[in-house]
Amino acid sequence: MNPDMSLPTASIDEAQRLIFKTSQDQDLAWELGVFYLKVPDWLDLEEARHFGRDILDSESPYRNIPQYGELEGFIALENNQQTKLALRRHRWDDHYPAEIAQFGRQLDDIGRVVIREVFRKSGIPEYLWTDASGGYSSGQGTAFLNFVHYDTSQSDLGLRPHTDYGFVTILDATSPGLQIELCGQFHNVPVLDAHLVINFGEALNFITQHSNRSVTAIVHRVTSQAASNPVRHGIVYFANPDLNGALKQFNAQGREVGSSSVADLFAKLEKNLTTYG
Ligand SMILES: [Fe+2]
Repeated sequence: MNPDMSLPTASIDEAQRLIFKTSQDQDLAWELGVFYLKVPDWLDLEEARHFGRDILDSESPYRNIPQYGELEGFIALENNQQTKLALRRHRWDDHYPAEIAQFGRQLDDIGRVVIREVFRKSGIPEYLWTDASGGYSSGQGTAFLNFVHYDTSQSDLGLRPHTDYGFVTILDATSPGLQIELCGQFHNVPVLDAHLVINFGEALNFITQHSNRSVTAIVHRVTSQAASNPVRHGIVYFANPDLNGALKQFNAQGREVGSSSVADLFAKLEKNLTTYG
């Protein structure tokens, strides 16, 4: 039995700032690389959850959305319990209903609020944020909005241990299963009603590495879903840099101290991932 983890909680205030109860909570969130976010009043989560659940219906037209490469479209993976409908931002209006495309743009807003708070704390001067993040902090970059299901008819682990590659991941999961690794041990992240789980990814760790305050890309996994809880639904949003773009590392004095093409950084991470194979 894995111990439960009590994570810090944040909310978004009227000025679109990310607010923690105490500065110790924020420090802990940055150190762990994960925290709960109270669902903002303006986010219609229920509608998006319904949309996600309806995709499980074998007659759902959304199961016919074609695959675009390995990462987008309706995808049933053979090596784990996951099926998903995954689309990058520029395809949302083509394939998602208008209210779901709009929901995605609201998650864009949340992603930007989070990344801007990370920059603020990093001490990197604001005029460099767009350049450092390959455009994401000012509304460019890319994003995925995915609707995910874990099915017990496959016996494999839900999702193997990994770090996310992008900047920020926003997760809405209505059943347990998410675990984070701390000091070599996995801890359950319990579902907290009316809260999303936010975690930082490798690209955000990379661009804050030489600043006053870096963030951790947390190792996490999803456990195999038990038969007593047959299908785990999730909505996942990934805030990512453009694959053909670049990321820059600045220090708090505004000096560029490193950079990488996104492709090179991701290729390096892919190589490291084999340690979990
Ligand atoms: Fe992940």
